[in-house]
Amino acid sequence: MLVDSEVVKRNSTKIYKRKYHIISYGCQMNFADSEVVASILENIGYEHCADIKHSDLILLNTCSIREKAEQTIRKKLSSINYLKKKKLDIKVGVLGCMAERLKEKFLNEEKIVDLVVGPDAYRDIPNLLKEINSGRDAVNVILSKEETYADIRPQRLNSNGISAFVSITRGCDNMCTFCVVPFTRGRERSRDPKSILSEINELKLNGFKEITLLGQNVDSYLWYGGGLKKDFKNASEIQKKTCINFAKLLDLVAKCYPNFRIRFTTSNPQDMDVEVLKTMKNHKNICNHIHLPVQSGSNNILKAMNRQHSIEEYLELIKQIKKILPNCGISHDIITGFPNETEIDHSQTLSLMNKVKYDFGFMFKYSERPGTLAARKLDDNVPEKVKQSRLSEIIDLQFRHSSENLSKFIGKKTEVLIEKESKKSTSFWAGRNEQNFMVVFPKENYSPGDFVEVLINKSTYTTLIGSVINKIK
Ligand code: SAH
Ligand code: F3S
Repeated sequence: MLVDSEVVKRNSTKIYKRKYHIISYGCQMNFADSEVVASILENIGYEHCADIKHSDLILLNTCSIREKAEQTIRKKLSSINYLKKKKLDIKVGVLGCMAERLKEKFLNEEKIVDLVVGPDAYRDIPNLLKEINSGRDAVNVILSKEETYADIRPQRLNSNGISAFVSITRGCDNMCTFCVVPFTRGRERSRDPKSILSEINELKLNGFKEITLLGQNVDSYLWYGGGLKKDFKNASEIQKKTCINFAKLLDLVAKCYPNFRIRFTTSNPQDMDVEVLKTMKNHKNICNHIHLPVQSGSNNILKAMNRQHSIEEYLELIKQIKKILPNCGISHDIITGFPNETEIDHSQTLSLMNKVKYDFGFMFKYSERPGTLAARKLDDNVPEKVKQSRLSEIIDLQFRHSSENLSKFIGKKTEVLIEKESKKSTSFWAGRNEQNFMVVFPKENYSPGDFVEVLINKSTYTTLIGSVINKIK
């Protein structure tokens, strides 16, 4: 390990390693990025510290997706302020989307912040730390066209040693009008498949059993030798012939690692094609679960959101999924109260949900994000009370569908990868089946990392309960 000037000699006999503590908010990509940052820090001699109070460097990897997410982070900063008053040499850094959105303004708004680093600038952290350790504030929020951190092996921070995220794309080119991600995470680029495979190989050697390929829009993955997705049109003929799309990448990973369970997220309906579904069907080790955000059941709203598909096209895709992968779990993201959303639009969302009968979903009230097209052009005119009551209605409907879908497992066997102890009982294990449902069952003599067959005898709206009848591997 490289030990540089960040490691300070506190006395002549013992080397003191500076300690970092990192808190991640928001999407899985942020959690994966924090592991990249951890790796960069450990490479310069920093040591991870689980206790924030004993850390020298506190980093918040932030989320800007909704206003509430930003408020949570500001609250956390004020509680850290208290720590900083007691221990003056603590340094505080803000990473991720909020750093990118607010840039140097952060230093003025939140006086305790010393360091502001955007999602594409993490390699610069060692230099920025030198700046702050010599008493200067430091900011780097430059977005990149190439950065994928392909060569950096993430330091698995919050890992259960069984499942890991492997990022395959960064950024997003979709420009949904409500979304801040294209502004905070930049243009879409894909990671070299060789580096993806070598990261998975290392996970295998370390005993991991499941990976989730991660990107804002995984189905749009395209490797043609590097560069932005949008520049593919200028690629050479050879590059065009030999490029690797998501279906090919998935096939490659599934073939190379037949004993690994493979998941992926997130799919964008406009980019998901039948090839991906066929690849899933061809490989038993690719989990039958697709997270397919729809946002709204109304074509008018989809258009105003700049989603590049209609409800009819979305339903056609769902039909294909159900035909090719009859046991596939399907989940969604939905936003209620987008500008000008009427009762009719809302009832179309409920009607779509009744048609698809999703297994689960993430549901949000629209939150206006500064700088997005919706914020600039549309009035956030659905009253808070209406947003809330529409949200409650779709949540209730989702609960009903989830309960119905889960109850269909009763009396059936399902394969589960044991991940951890159940939250409710120390004598139960918890793990997910391939549809991504949580399954709990008595521990007996099984261990995390085992693949077991569980016979389901009970269900709630989120969980299947049963007992193991067979260890698979
Ligand atoms: N493709 C991404 C989507 C990121 S944002 C992915 O990897 O998941 C996740 C979800 O947050 C979106 O699908 C959307 O439903 C919700 N969301 C995004 N911007 C929002 C906003 N301004 N208000 C409310 N919800 C929002
Ligand atoms: Fe955001 Fe739409 Fe991309 S929701 S992350 S702009 S697909």
